[in-house]
Amino acid sequence: MSTNAQKFPSQFPIPVDPRFPAHSGSPSGKVGPVSVRRPVRAASPEISKVGLSEICLSYRTQSGERLLALDHINLQVHAGEFVCIVGPSGCGKSTLLLLIAGLHQQTSGQILVDGKPVQGPGTDRIMIFQEHGLFPWLTVGQNVEFGMKMKGVPKAERQEKTRYYLRLVHLAKFEKSYIHQLSGGMRQRVAIARALATEPDVLLMDEPFGALDAQTRDLLHDELERIWSETGCTIIFVTHNVREAIRLGDRVVLMTFRPGRVKSEFPVELPRPRHLEDPNVARAAREILDELRDEINRSLEAEYNDGVKPRIKPGVEV
Ligand SMILES: Nc1ncnc2c1ncn2[C@@H]1O[C@H](COP(=O)(O)OP(=O)(O)OP(=O)(O)O)[C@@H](O)[C@H]1O
Ligand SMILES: [Mg+2]
Repeated sequence: MSTNAQKFPSQFPIPVDPRFPAHSGSPSGKVGPVSVRRPVRAASPEISKVGLSEICLSYRTQSGERLLALDHINLQVHAGEFVCIVGPSGCGKSTLLLLIAGLHQQTSGQILVDGKPVQGPGTDRIMIFQEHGLFPWLTVGQNVEFGMKMKGVPKAERQEKTRYYLRLVHLAKFEKSYIHQLSGGMRQRVAIARALATEPDVLLMDEPFGALDAQTRDLLHDELERIWSETGCTIIFVTHNVREAIRLGDRVVLMTFRPGRVKSEFPVELPRPRHLEDPNVARAAREILDELRDEINRSLEAEYNDGVKPRIKPGVEV
């Protein structure tokens, strides 16, 4: 099984693929001189944006054996929905995002985006990795412009959109700065602006805030939620942090330890905006944590198959 993932710097660029027409902007059309996506926030439960059916993926290990990473995954994500995926380390969360991004290919099963099979990368889907993958030799503004340049967006439009998306992530004053002059949280916001500037329909986020301090992460939660609500994009967000999943998601999908399967799905009906420290968030997280803990214990048992079996006790945060 080959992967295209290594061929690209993390997060970007997913080059324009001739099989996929360039994204034509928001369905609500052009606003002013530049077509910048307008607020269309309304999850459309009846419209399936991303559909995975019976997805299986096996890797060949160093010893030549086949390792089943994903086992008959079925998942429907609606247009405008914010879905969070949690699961123990190694259960296949990143692999799943790579498949949806078209950077990797499943062994069997089908992935549909807007009803069409995914056959490779496309600018309608952008992946943001934990490592932001910004180019240090370019300014903040040039980084944000980069994806649009790849798509052949004319210069004046690129510049206008760059300013628009930098304002959206509160970095307008840093357009001329270089990446090393920014904090970790600011870099992550540039990565988000760069991804959004290409106006993807689907944003695939793989633990984007895992390495940030709590205050920056809280700020980015607020900003991501605002951007999502203003743009109406569909987000599939992988995290280890169950509270973060409840904080952000319309729905939390829990995966099993290897081979990764969908174990449970939890709709989150708490009003927005939510806060990580909110007791209702903690309560909602508890049920998921109990199931996740079982899966983590399974992973520990598989790893420590020498008789020593550390277990995470009930009540311990994971
Ligand atoms: N290129 C590869 N070749 C062989 N095996 C791989 C490859 N990529 C991933 N795997 C295996 O597939 C399984 C799923 O990996 P994946 O990175 O998707 O897990 P994950 O859920 O994202 O884990 P984490 O939470 O630690 O990021 C793991 O057992 C991993 O070892
Ligand atoms: Mg991962």
